[in-house]
Amino acid sequence: NQVPEACIVLFGATGDLAHRKLYPALFQLYQKDKLNEKFAVIGTGRKELTSEQFQEEVRQSVDPNGKYAQETVDTFSSHFYFIPMDVSDSQSYRELKELADELDSKYDLGGNRMYYLSMAPRFFGTIPTFLKQEGLTETDGWQRLVIEKPFGHDLQSATELNEQLLQSFPEESIYRIDHYLGKEMVQNIQVIRFGNAIFESIWNNKYISSVQITASETLGVEDRASYYEKSGAILDMLQNHMLQMAMMVAMEPPGGLDPKLIRDEKVKVLRSLRFYNEDEVAKNIIRGQYKEGTMNGKEVPAYVNEDNVDPQSKTDTFVAARVFIDNFRWAGVPFYLRTGKRLATKATEIVVQFKKGPMALYHENSDNDQPNLLRIHVQPDEGLSLSLNAKPQGDYPTLLPIDMSYCNNCENEMNTPEAYEKLMYDCLVGDSTYFTRWDEVALSWEFIDGITNAWKNKDIPLYKYTSGTMGPLEAEELLNEDGYTWWNPT
Ligand code: BG6
Repeated sequence: NQVPEACIVLFGATGDLAHRKLYPALFQLYQKDKLNEKFAVIGTGRKELTSEQFQEEVRQSVDPNGKYAQETVDTFSSHFYFIPMDVSDSQSYRELKELADELDSKYDLGGNRMYYLSMAPRFFGTIPTFLKQEGLTETDGWQRLVIEKPFGHDLQSATELNEQLLQSFPEESIYRIDHYLGKEMVQNIQVIRFGNAIFESIWNNKYISSVQITASETLGVEDRASYYEKSGAILDMLQNHMLQMAMMVAMEPPGGLDPKLIRDEKVKVLRSLRFYNEDEVAKNIIRGQYKEGTMNGKEVPAYVNEDNVDPQSKTDTFVAARVFIDNFRWAGVPFYLRTGKRLATKATEIVVQFKKGPMALYHENSDNDQPNLLRIHVQPDEGLSLSLNAKPQGDYPTLLPIDMSYCNNCENEMNTPEAYEKLMYDCLVGDSTYFTRWDEVALSWEFIDGITNAWKNKDIPLYKYTSGTMGPLEAEELLNEDGYTWWNPT
């Protein structure tokens, strides 16, 4: 795709996400010639920075170790401008408009604008309203609004936010980020499925017994308690990243690769998702919270002893869910979703477990009676592995589990594009496939609200787990009830 010229206006330009992800992502695009050379970035923030100081910050962010040619880094950062802003004051938007118009002529940007909100969510509604009110959205080019999570904190707040955004930007111009959708192997799920006849023909309840998705993290709450106390693992990870991965695994083949066709299929998965009443929540969803423990030889505190966390906090730092997609393809197949902080490893993996054959010809003499598993390694390794059974040399008739693996990022680890690089690129070229559409967001909130309301109304336990383990025992029991165990990331 030809990348069009554009002005990127970044709200929250001095923040952590911008420094850690967004500038390096843009720099990678620039280096790979995937950014039009006619581009400008306006950073905004409360700080009184000059554009020169801002450019120095950008240089530091994209090349902290002086690895790249100085000239490349300098030319790249010369496209960055800073304007201090109070985002609730219309005067600030007038100044922003003046600068944007000036850069539009200077770089010949055709009025194309990408507004990226990397801000505290309370500003998500306000900023687009002002952008429209102050005439920033009236240019000859396209206007796109990129919005980070969280998109609301329940269905009602998300609906209100959405209605507010729609006053200024139409749905097609709103790019809601779920950075898991930018991950290489999450995008690869559809190719593995629909590009291989051998998988698609068995990708259903006749041959698959269960699906597990684990996103485990070793970090704790870090310095984000004020946000995390209100969200917990369920809003932070399950409502978005976990459900998005489940949709990618479960969707029907789209009629083509048009973003609409793909997103239509994804949303149908959520329409078939079984929504739980309070008793079902108690049976199918396990919540947990980390206790102190030892990780990498270091003592780490319990969640309730972390900075700015209420010592009585009931926030979930772990959640495991058994969910069902009640359609022809998946009826009766449990999807187990598990995510948590301060777990044993940092890894994301999807495991598709196949049913065993109709008759145990070899199994009786074997301790190694393993089901076939297709593991999709999302991170840190990116790839696939398929567990099969074969015969050990000499012995007969016992079974030996063997693994066929493909590693996507082993040879070229440094060059794997980061999620943000792909998503920024997609937004610039106007491809919304890997952004979440409003109907997906609304349905996922509806499902999650059912769980959080049950947690509020019913006495549902919060299980404590030791830091450095894979979560509470009860999460293991959830699977044992069905005759399964969790496959931990390998
Ligand atoms: C974010 C969550 O969306 O995803 C964080 O807010 C979490 O709490 C992060 O740590 C995980 O992302 P990744 O890419 O590191 O797996």
